[in-house]
Amino acid sequence: MIKKICINFVLLTVLWTAQACDDGLIPEKTYTPEHTGYTAKLTARISGADSWPEYYDVALAAFGDSEYSRTQTTVHPDADGNITLLLYNIGEDVQSVEFCVTNTLRRRVLTFASASLSEAVGDTIYLEAGDVDVSMYTAIQENIFNTNCATCHGLSTTAAAGLNLTEGNSYASMVDQPATSAEGTRVIPGNAEESVLHKVINPGNELGLTFSHENMITSSTELRLIDEWINAGAQN
Ligand code: HEC
Repeated sequence: MIKKICINFVLLTVLWTAQACDDGLIPEKTYTPEHTGYTAKLTARISGADSWPEYYDVALAAFGDSEYSRTQTTVHPDADGNITLLLYNIGEDVQSVEFCVTNTLRRRVLTFASASLSEAVGDTIYLEAGDVDVSMYTAIQENIFNTNCATCHGLSTTAAAGLNLTEGNSYASMVDQPATSAEGTRVIPGNAEESVLHKVINPGNELGLTFSHENMITSSTELRLIDEWINAGAQN
């Protein structure tokens, strides 16, 4: 019994001393942040996100030196179209953070707004995109028709083959409209393969046009974008 009390006493003393020694020497608590690297913050008000078929993602994505994003997160706007979205764990190997559309392979299809890592404030890269129409048709108009096609199809005095591909006119001029330089319909909603637009811009000059368009769009991503739009119902 006495032995036990003694042992307890010794133990208590040791504990008390250890405690006393620790005072002021408690090692600084190591803070482990939940996220490492940079964080990107996107704010925007968008419309048209639901016009993209499943093969695509409207996303906030981080890119290095390739066309494929290293990390990304899909946007989910609220009922008014507002988004506040964070993307974490962005490493030094990232060159830009983009509000963009990617395909299922995470390959960049097109970009609405972008910021580089060097624009970071502290460890946050702010991307304030404002009001953005992200709809699929607007994307095709701005990225393909305006830049590659409208010069001959509507911007000059006459629209080649009577096809007007300028902003605000292209949809009515294409969807369910008969072609003039070959048999068929320019755009058949739900059927890219049979649409004259598809046959004209893809390799092979299937319709034998005197003016071949087959090397006008060389990006397979853009050719597929048009096909996906038609197959998803050719929505405006
Ligand atoms: C350099 C002028 C030029 C450019 C640029 C051009 N086109 Fe054309 N396009 C023509 C001409 C000329 C025709 C008529 C060809 C023929 O009859 O052989 C035509 C015909 C077409 C037709 C067939 C229309 C019909 O009703 O028969 C489609 C579809 C078409 N173009 C789409 C496009 C698209 C999409 C682009 C952009 C990627 C584009 N074109 C760029 C000159 C151009």
